[in-house]
Amino acid sequence: PHPLSSRFNSRPVAKRATNGDVPLTNYNADLWYGSIKVGTPPETYTVVFDTGSSDLCEFSQEFLPSDDCGFTCDGHKSYDPDSSSSAKDTGEPFLLTYASGQTAGEQYFDVGSVGGHKVNNQSVGAAYLYSPQFSEYDYPPDGLSGLAFREISEFEGSPLFETLSESGQLPESAMGFKLSTTPGDSKLLVGGTNTSLYRSDTLTYIPVTTQGYWEVELGSISRLGQEVDGSDDIPAIIDTGTTLVITSDSVAQSYYANISNATAHTEDGYTYWTIPCNMMNSSVPTFTLGDHSFTVSPQTFNLGPEDTNSTDCMVGIASSSEMDFTIVGDVFLQNVYAVFDYAQTRVLRVNRDGSPEPTFETEDFS
Ligand SMILES: *[C@@H]1O[C@H](CO)[C@@H](O)[C@H](O)[C@H]1NC(C)=O
Ligand SMILES: *[C@@H]1O[C@H](CO)[C@@H](O)[C@H](O)[C@H]1NC(C)=O
Ligand SMILES: *[C@@H]1O[C@H](CO)[C@@H](O)[C@H](O)[C@H]1NC(C)=O
Ligand SMILES: *[C@@H]1O[C@H](CO)[C@@H](O)[C@H](O)[C@H]1NC(C)=O
Ligand SMILES: *[C@@H]1O[C@H](CO)[C@@H](O)[C@H](O)[C@H]1NC(C)=O
Ligand SMILES: *[C@@H]1O[C@H](CO)[C@@H](O)[C@H](O)[C@H]1NC(C)=O
Repeated sequence: PHPLSSRFNSRPVAKRATNGDVPLTNYNADLWYGSIKVGTPPETYTVVFDTGSSDLCEFSQEFLPSDDCGFTCDGHKSYDPDSSSSAKDTGEPFLLTYASGQTAGEQYFDVGSVGGHKVNNQSVGAAYLYSPQFSEYDYPPDGLSGLAFREISEFEGSPLFETLSESGQLPESAMGFKLSTTPGDSKLLVGGTNTSLYRSDTLTYIPVTTQGYWEVELGSISRLGQEVDGSDDIPAIIDTGTTLVITSDSVAQSYYANISNATAHTEDGYTYWTIPCNMMNSSVPTFTLGDHSFTVSPQTFNLGPEDTNSTDCMVGIASSSEMDFTIVGDVFLQNVYAVFDYAQTRVLRVNRDGSPEPTFETEDFS
């Protein structure tokens, strides 16, 4: 080394401020994920930040008794509690079932951090079984971080964001999501909202009606200014971990009834819809939440041609016979800046760029 190098080395290094910024990676316009750290020494894992669930699950190679897991867990980084000096085994098993898959394992407590904010005693599920839906091809991140409320958690401890909030270190007890399919554009801000991504004079606050999920009242869904039958004042869950908007069969049928040649495809209890691709502009939904309406762009509503060369396109509102509420997922959330505010449990809406006719509206669910 150059003799002078030690001088530079011994210079105090400016401590990088913790600003809570977590870049998110988009996969296939399907899911968004970012990094967290868990354990001592800290290891980095990628997780989907899922406001529609409350548990932090890590896949763990430590618990790999089954052949199933041997196959489906390939490609995910594993959490090994034995290698973390701060891991504490609770001895409690868990089984979590999502719309998109299942995972089972054992609960631990460990230290962790997200966006530079540290938590000392976070419940972490070390999974010894992933269902095939969590295979690396369908699900590139390692795990999932549930950001709904502890009321719906299966775990003994609190969900990550509640643990963080209660630690008192966050400037604001809120998280701001910007989801986009443009590489480098998606981000989560832990502990506040990124004021450069929205216009503060356009905030809409939507109260959480039942604390569990981020559940709010959806005023209505409309298309071309016409309210869809049965879509008024229905409970809605604002869910970053679900790709589509999923509503009841009856609301979906009313929604598509007036779109020529809209076709229903039912599979595993879910009904997906295709419409002629050239009808996209006139087929987008407008969601009324609080005192504002948000129209989904044709780009995010369109999930692409049904098959190669097909002139029919899959679109972003699906339905399930089991649902009497609506899950408002990423097809919608890509059109807003969404703020989940634990302190005031509200939703707010903001414009991104300050132009009079915003192309990117912003919404805050808290
Ligand atoms: C807010 O977003 C801007 C634009 O993407 C970025 O440059 C900035 O670092 C972000 N700030 C925080 C605190 O995340
Ligand atoms: C961690 O949190 C759990 C659940 O809240 C609690 O039972 C346990 O005592 C805590 N452990 C420590 C070391 O704080
Ligand atoms: C569907 O068409 C009927 C009859 O033209 C009309 O009354 C209704 O408002 C339309 N609904 C939507 C959601 O466009
Ligand atoms: C609907 O389907 C009919 C019959 O296949 C076709 O003639 C018509 O052009 C289609 N309409 C649209 C809007 O695609
Ligand atoms: C949809 O709207 C865009 C932007 O206004 C326009 O460029 C495009 O031609 C429209 N597509 C159809 C099929 O009308
Ligand atoms: C799609 O269209 C292209 C060009 O017309 C053709 O070469 C190809 O075989 C078609 N693919 C299918 C699956 O029909």
